Amino acid sequence: MTKKQLAESVDYLEKRGFDAPEIGIVLGTGLGQLVDQIEDPITAHYNHIPYFPLATVEFHTGKLIYGTIEAKKVVVMQGRFHLYEGYDFIDITYPIRVMHQLGIKKLFVSNAAGAINLNFKKGDIMLIEDHINLQGGSPLAFKNVAEFGERFVDMSEPYDPDMRQKIELFAKDRGISLQKGVYASVVGPQLETKAEYRMLKTLGADAVGMSTVPEVIVANHLKLPVVAVSVLTDECDPDNLKPIDIQEIIAIANETEPKMIQLFKGLMNAI
Ligand code: HPA
Repeated sequence: MTKKQLAESVDYLEKRGFDAPEIGIVLGTGLGQLVDQIEDPITAHYNHIPYFPLATVEFHTGKLIYGTIEAKKVVVMQGRFHLYEGYDFIDITYPIRVMHQLGIKKLFVSNAAGAINLNFKKGDIMLIEDHINLQGGSPLAFKNVAEFGERFVDMSEPYDPDMRQKIELFAKDRGISLQKGVYASVVGPQLETKAEYRMLKTLGADAVGMSTVPEVIVANHLKLPVVAVSVLTDECDPDNLKPIDIQEIIAIANETEPKMIQLFKGLMNAI
């Protein structure tokens, strides 16, 4: 990755009308309904944006959409890139750097995740308070990282406390139940064994998924305030583990998304 490549990606989008977005939004697996609520949308397919990685997973439609939600200019990633698709850490976080360069001041991230904390149920939303990186690498481990920011990025408070508080207040006000906890990221794409779910619980994880952490690390690198939520799609009880059903995961994500959209819109109005 070079600054010149980044500038070309941004130039392409600006020429298409992506004009000074304030908020960047990353939509996770099964979470796409928010896109229907974007006013005056301009769409750029990932495979048309110079230097963007090519989209692969079939249930991700792979586009960047610019427009307005709640009177805020937004840029929404419908579908993200995952390590399990064969991309590297630099690829999967490239869009975050592009959105930052376009001018976003805040980043909202969402994902579908399994509930490790068995007090949480599928269909719950968990506000991520902290994370554990179990993906075996970093999006900041590259030679010319210093051109893009500092190398030794502080991670003492990776999720913006102010936006977290605003989401919590909004949820309380509207009577939307909201869990809070620690998200652990794994590479996937295979799901976890019973022994791995036990390990994740012992490590202190409340939810597990295959994304988000690299994007959040890069947001911190860019000093871009970030908030993230997990839509909990399955309960990872090692003593009563049923075979995973990816269609069910997507269905639960779909059913739960309206609640997530409410939270994101509430936050947009509060910032
Ligand atoms: N494990 C990992 N990723 C997931 C899960 C899970 O149980 N559910 C949804 N994404």
